[in-house]
Amino acid sequence: MSTVLRIEDLIVHYITDEGIVQALQGVNLAINKGEIVGVAGETGSGKTTLALTIMRLLPTNARVVGGRILFNDIDLLGLSEEEMQKIRQSRISLIMQGTADVFNPLMLSGLQVSEAIEFHKNKPFHEAIEETKKIFSDVGLGTRVLISLPHELSIGTRQRVKIALAISTQPELIIADEPFTGLDPTLQAHLSDLIEKLHEEYGFTALIISHNLLRLFEISHKIAILYGGKILEYNDPRGIYYHPIHPYTKGLIGGLPDIKSPKSKKLIEMPEVYINPMNPPKGCVFWPRCPYAKDICKKREPELRKIEDALLACHFAEELKDISPWDFWKNNGG
Ligand SMILES: Nc1ncnc2c1ncn2[C@@H]1O[C@H](COP(=O)(O)OP(=O)(O)OP(=O)(O)O)[C@@H](O)[C@H]1O
Ligand code: SF4
Ligand SMILES: [Mg+2]
Repeated sequence: MSTVLRIEDLIVHYITDEGIVQALQGVNLAINKGEIVGVAGETGSGKTTLALTIMRLLPTNARVVGGRILFNDIDLLGLSEEEMQKIRQSRISLIMQGTADVFNPLMLSGLQVSEAIEFHKNKPFHEAIEETKKIFSDVGLGTRVLISLPHELSIGTRQRVKIALAISTQPELIIADEPFTGLDPTLQAHLSDLIEKLHEEYGFTALIISHNLLRLFEISHKIAILYGGKILEYNDPRGIYYHPIHPYTKGLIGGLPDIKSPKSKKLIEMPEVYINPMNPPKGCVFWPRCPYAKDICKKREPELRKIEDALLACHFAEELKDISPWDFWKNNGG
């Protein structure tokens, strides 16, 4: 299977008046053709920074300090801005986080999508319009939406138009940053179904970023757990859900309100410890919250390495791998 995106040892900082924010601290990730990879992480873990670095859309105070991003063997970080512009939207599209979206407020939704097709795929106007109608129908939107202005649409509908725009140019990679945020649970479920259906039809490769692990389970082939700018665990959703190995992943899974869990198992609440991104912990980034931390954890950073089918960044992964989340956390404040 060919690799569409390979991220190697990516380090990104933000320069601020208060100091240097270490947003990404050596991220490694590979996405194969046709895969949907979910990146889960709490607020501030570096998810948006990862998306913006791939798109080369970081704010001016950001610095890529190290690493490489290979997109089908093209070194994205080595491209000029002009070369990168040819890749954005036509070969990699981004669905941005938040309500501040890419739409022109004065232009009909359908025209915004057809314009992208005309421009990036070099199609004449009438063909672009026909394709837009088909894509709108594929994302479950009728002709009324085609001729509506963005502000006339509900948040759920606007999210569908964003998806229509993202797939309209048939990019080799789609990146979606928090696509579920702001939607109520019913709309979130509809969006998951839609992403699955579109993936069957269009076969795209995607990186979907969310703090909502349950939604990522529904749509992802692989999941990366990001914490403090590092990936701590990487596996398929079954492995992450039924056999979490890293203490942090165990805490996340044990904290999910899940109707399938036996009632006797109370939800795990990991201790909250503030991590200063300008002065992150030495060694393992999770040690201040980890009840299993030993001296070595505070001194040496654990490499991301293969344990069974997963990739793990924990010195004690072998010892901990078969302990259930509840057994691991029950005597440790969880
Ligand atoms: N422009 C910026 N200048 C300085 N620090 C920044 C900037 N953008 C992000 N950061 C910091 O970088 C770290 C990673 O931020 P990022 O937005 O990538 O996290 P995130 O996982 O997307 O969070 P959220 O779930 O809240 O969207 C955080 O500590 C954040 O405060
Ligand atoms: S490396 Fe040490 S501190 Fe980090 S998760 Fe593993 S046991 Fe805990
Ligand atoms: Mg974000």
